[in-house]
Amino acid sequence: MKPETEARILAEITAERARRDGGDALDRFACFGSDDVPVHEYIDEAVYRAERTAIFQQAWLPVARVTDVAEPGAFVTQQIAGDPIAVVCGDDGVLRAFHNVCRHRGAQVLRDAQGNCRQLTCAYHGFVYGLDGALIRAPALDTFAGVDPGAVRLPPVHLDRWGGWVFVSLAPEPTPLRTFLDGLADELAAWDFERAVLIRREVTEQPFGWKVAVEAFLEPLHLPSIHARSAHPLLDFRASAMDWFGDHSRMATAFRASNAYTVDGPMGRAAATCGVPNFPGLNRVQETTNLSYLLFPATIFSLLPNHFTVFRVLPLGVDRTQFVYELYGAPSESPRASEYYESLVPGYAQLLAEDFENLPWIQRGLGDSATRAIPLSHYERRIRHFRARVREWIAAKSGSAT
Ligand code: FES
Ligand SMILES: [Fe+2]
Repeated sequence: MKPETEARILAEITAERARRDGGDALDRFACFGSDDVPVHEYIDEAVYRAERTAIFQQAWLPVARVTDVAEPGAFVTQQIAGDPIAVVCGDDGVLRAFHNVCRHRGAQVLRDAQGNCRQLTCAYHGFVYGLDGALIRAPALDTFAGVDPGAVRLPPVHLDRWGGWVFVSLAPEPTPLRTFLDGLADELAAWDFERAVLIRREVTEQPFGWKVAVEAFLEPLHLPSIHARSAHPLLDFRASAMDWFGDHSRMATAFRASNAYTVDGPMGRAAATCGVPNFPGLNRVQETTNLSYLLFPATIFSLLPNHFTVFRVLPLGVDRTQFVYELYGAPSESPRASEYYESLVPGYAQLLAEDFENLPWIQRGLGDSATRAIPLSHYERRIRHFRARVREWIAAKSGSAT
């Protein structure tokens, strides 16, 4: 994070606190009615199809950790808004991604979420592909008139790595991953993603759309209600600085106690007892706020001084979502490190349970015929930016198609 960004965030948090202390509350909804978000965009199948082609078939998306696919034959599969994708480590140690769909009659070839195999065998009629996606053999191949087996392969998908993650893009010619990440790579560097320790990963399917899921992580306004017993006691939601750069956005929400994660603070003391340090070299913002980034379109990094969470939202339909939650800790050689890591798990389980209990009710409410649009407050301004970017990606795709 650049020093000028740090100074700007600290000044904004100070200004937000002053507004709160000055009783400036109602005018925070000054935009009420002026730039409402149309509700049909949450429930319309045509909008979902446009998002699928314009966003999820274009953007770079993190789909695995490099360590998940480090051995020859190791694979991870992922549905990306209807496209089954596999990431496979070849015998040559090279990572490749391809559409996980048999070239015969379209069956999904690899069916487990993660595993290890010597070759990819389609269960339907037995077509066999190598770890590089090329067809090796098929039963009665000579009866497929005109088929050149040497030319049959699972369609490749662009793959790149950053921060210990494997990213894929379904675009024919994607912008380079580093360009797509924009300023995010520098902003996130302090958290040492490559060496962070994976503490928990949970994958669930949820009955709400991908935008409902993402937007729950873009605003702090629901902390006092939904998260009254989890995040609200830690975070001063009205002391939040927000801004955006390109497609991505950032929110820094101040800890109620600025020393929360220092060695004399409540969280930092527990971590220090177990030998888990903060990530080194954090600046004042990184030490005293919960920094949360949206990596467009649907990945959220929520960073605290000695751990972080990653939430990956993957659409399964207009009102269904796969939600991948990962919790990572700062690296430590201490034999008691796992004690601290595990102590973080129940709090995040509660936080997510609170959101998962609430969000299906949002999806249901948005189907109401008397509700045409929803207003956004000052604290929800990142949602306005997010929705503008969604519309711009769709417009850019329809522009390039004409
Ligand atoms: S669909 Fe895969 S072998 Fe027939
Ligand atoms: Fe939430």
